[in-house]
Amino acid sequence: MGKSPTMEGGPVTITIFGASGDLSHRKLIPALFSLYGKGRLPEDFCILGMAIDELTTAELCDSYREWIEERSGGGFDAQRWERFAGRIEYLRAGFTEDESYARLGEMLTAGGGGGRGCLFYLAIPPRFIVEVIGRLGRSGLLEEGDGWRRVVVEKPFGHDLESARELNHEIHQYMDERQIYRIDHYVGKETVQNLLVFRFANTMFEPLWNRNYVDHVQITLAEEVGVEHRGEFYDQVGVVRDIFQNHMMQLLALIAMEPPAAFTADALHNEKVKLLSAVRPIAEEEVGLNAARGHYIGFDEEPGVAPDSQTATFAAVKLYVDNWRWNGVPFYLRSGKKLKRKLTEVIVQFKCPPHIMFPTPDDFCDTPNMLALCLQPDEGIHLRFEAKVPDTVTDMRPVDMEFRYENAFGPSAIPEAYERLLLDAIGGDRSLFIRNDGVEMGWRLMDPVIRGFMSQLEKLPCPRYEPGTWGPVEADELLRRDGRRWLHGCGERAGEACETGERE
Ligand code: BG6
Repeated sequence: MGKSPTMEGGPVTITIFGASGDLSHRKLIPALFSLYGKGRLPEDFCILGMAIDELTTAELCDSYREWIEERSGGGFDAQRWERFAGRIEYLRAGFTEDESYARLGEMLTAGGGGGRGCLFYLAIPPRFIVEVIGRLGRSGLLEEGDGWRRVVVEKPFGHDLESARELNHEIHQYMDERQIYRIDHYVGKETVQNLLVFRFANTMFEPLWNRNYVDHVQITLAEEVGVEHRGEFYDQVGVVRDIFQNHMMQLLALIAMEPPAAFTADALHNEKVKLLSAVRPIAEEEVGLNAARGHYIGFDEEPGVAPDSQTATFAAVKLYVDNWRWNGVPFYLRSGKKLKRKLTEVIVQFKCPPHIMFPTPDDFCDTPNMLALCLQPDEGIHLRFEAKVPDTVTDMRPVDMEFRYENAFGPSAIPEAYERLLLDAIGGDRSLFIRNDGVEMGWRLMDPVIRGFMSQLEKLPCPRYEPGTWGPVEADELLRRDGRRWLHGCGERAGEACETGERE
């Protein structure tokens, strides 16, 4: 039996700022309830929910319960829920009022004083982060005299490099970097964690993982949904800040970094930052050549979105990593909303064999050996290679060697990313969180792209794309200029072309 992530630690209070909000309902409480069911939370834990709403503890718990029960597919354990809900307490509090923090302090002390760990989870709009951390700090609630104190901060962390630096600077006035847990839920996904195991616990692939054998890499993070109920927020942020600065940069770092010397937070963060610092930023004036953007038709009619909005809901970029391993190998990254289907995958396309003795079609080298890391859904890994078609002289056809999580580990083996991340934050393991310099590196690479897109708007509006396609034609042009095209390697339709105009 493998070792499960488990908490053996002492007593802990998890304080959630924004307890009545979306993130708490969708992710945090379901993850904590699941961990509770698996017996992975410390024996003595409690959850203190804070929000501005006039609610009682019972009302808050009822609304959590409703959310979870509705999505439990009939497997809801009411007794376990009652026991879990008994650990939740609600504090009605304004985040900018002194008395809230005084009251919070009293409740934390009443929760059992000495040696108690306190995790403060900021599930709140970014504009409150400094305010809340400052008030926690000034109230003495971040002092570690009698038990650890940690703060989990959600993305977006700043809105550009300068604001992220300022935010880091302000936060560091009240606590050490080791107390700050900047979350990127992609890093908590099981399949993303597996990138490390795949690359560094096997000998087979690593010798090929470089410019000598890899033609190029594609990372696709496609969503079928639109902006849902977050129109106003998304209109201000756009896809580059929402996805590229964080999730995409983390995926890129994990795919391309050097092997860390140890499985420790610092060793991992050092390698990720080293890799991102070797990525060549796209010059603002070259964004037209090295990036593409788009905006789905109907976005500007979504609630909360400005009717003349030019915000990009899709982007694609081409990046190079200037180091010995990757020199000259393009990394194509794309992400968007309202695309054909939900899909996150990494394609490593290997080079064509140096000499082919068989008769082959002209486009043979378009689809040579390909490794597809299927992050979600259809989690798994597929390796594509050529095979001889039986009963022909030399006809060949690509075939797949497959690993599917579902087959290997069972249908519900993959936990929600937030389970692992919450457990690690409680256990004090920062490996899967983002260090200050990691966040800043992401902005360093994405700021010029955002500025380049802004200056393009002076000449042309943001290109539109039809919902249910793979994005704007400009994204295909980005690869076509290099004689390449977007590929799929995962799911039932692995291998099908997945360029803009193509539909089922
Ligand atoms: C979030 C973005 O970070 O990731 C959302 O803010 C996006 O816009 C979401 O929908 C996608 O996450 P997942 O886990 O559904 O791929």
